[in-house]
Amino acid sequence: MKSRFLTRWMVLALMCSASGLWAQEAFKIGLILPMTGQSASTGKQIEAAARLYMAQNGDKVAGRKIELIVKDDGGVPDATKRIAQELVVNDKVGVLSGFGLTPLALATAPIATQSKTPMVVMAAATSSITEASPFIVRTSFTLPQCAVAMGDWAPKNGMKRVVTLVSDYGPGLDAERYFKERMQLNSAQVLESLRVPLRNPDFAPFLQKVRDLKPDALFVFVPSGAGAAVMKQFLERGMDKAGIKLIGTGDLTDDDQLNDMGEGTLGVVTAHHYSAAHPSALNKKFVEAFKKANNGLRPNFMAVGGYDGMRVIYEALKNTKGGQGGGEAMVAAMKGQIFESPRGQIYIDAQTRDVVHNMYLRKVEKKDGQLYNVEFDVIKDMKDPGKSK
Ligand code: DHB
Repeated sequence: MKSRFLTRWMVLALMCSASGLWAQEAFKIGLILPMTGQSASTGKQIEAAARLYMAQNGDKVAGRKIELIVKDDGGVPDATKRIAQELVVNDKVGVLSGFGLTPLALATAPIATQSKTPMVVMAAATSSITEASPFIVRTSFTLPQCAVAMGDWAPKNGMKRVVTLVSDYGPGLDAERYFKERMQLNSAQVLESLRVPLRNPDFAPFLQKVRDLKPDALFVFVPSGAGAAVMKQFLERGMDKAGIKLIGTGDLTDDDQLNDMGEGTLGVVTAHHYSAAHPSALNKKFVEAFKKANNGLRPNFMAVGGYDGMRVIYEALKNTKGGQGGGEAMVAAMKGQIFESPRGQIYIDAQTRDVVHNMYLRKVEKKDGQLYNVEFDVIKDMKDPGKSK
């Protein structure tokens, strides 16, 4: 009798000390980003946004200290995968996050699945990514969302004959396909679909071809960081003066670069989920705080994907009392989250784990002496059109 009592007491004591330890142990978030190479601006924006979120919301959630471990993958898929493995095995991170390009996210998906670690995709935007692992949750956007919005807008605005020019990989192929399908549905035509290499593209020969085809408009997708080069060559060739309109997904008129692209960008129409000029009180506060913390740097859509990703992680931690129940419980707590983001209302679809949000049509305009994507129309609560295929 006495020994049974003692055993029970010991078990209870052990449980208490274990839960005490649990609370003391930091919850680690691995943030893998391209901090060097062609997509370095993506890494810089997302890291800054994650740090801002933590500065504003504290580094303790549900009694656990949050530790952010930032790693540079240089935009190389093998590196992303290796780093993810190390973070899971050695550092015992509770969440993997970041993923600046589609191939980086796809390379890491099997690690998330095998280790049952939630993987929050803050940047990469090919539709199929969320299907690569049941542990993936996305807070960025998808290219079909933007392409469908533009494929509806362009024909209604006099652009019936369009050439597409995209980076030749996942998101570019999504943009090309969904734009073309939508144009055809609207009795308009894609004259030619041009693809440029992802690494160090030379746009000149492609733009020459576009000039020869004399379309009403050129529709462009290039990843964040590459827009300025397309814009420069488009203008240098006088294609705007030749009557060819420039349209695209908002990656083209990226807030990270837009203000330095010059006045030739005035009037360029794009579809996207975020503009630094989004006129909400929450966004104004976000932009101000981000600039203040980062030497005046303007946040772009990558920053917002990172900021919202941190929010999704923090809320999941609260709802699982500090991550109890492991990765599966964390992913369950991420599904269905609905909240106001600097981009507007956002929702994590519980079925697809993908982001549902507004698609805005925006035009480059000058405001207070600076170039911005000014929103003039909205398609509310758009799910990823890629998921119904
Ligand atoms: C992807 C990367 C980008 O920089 C971007 O703007 C859109 C998509 C990607 O690789 O998925």
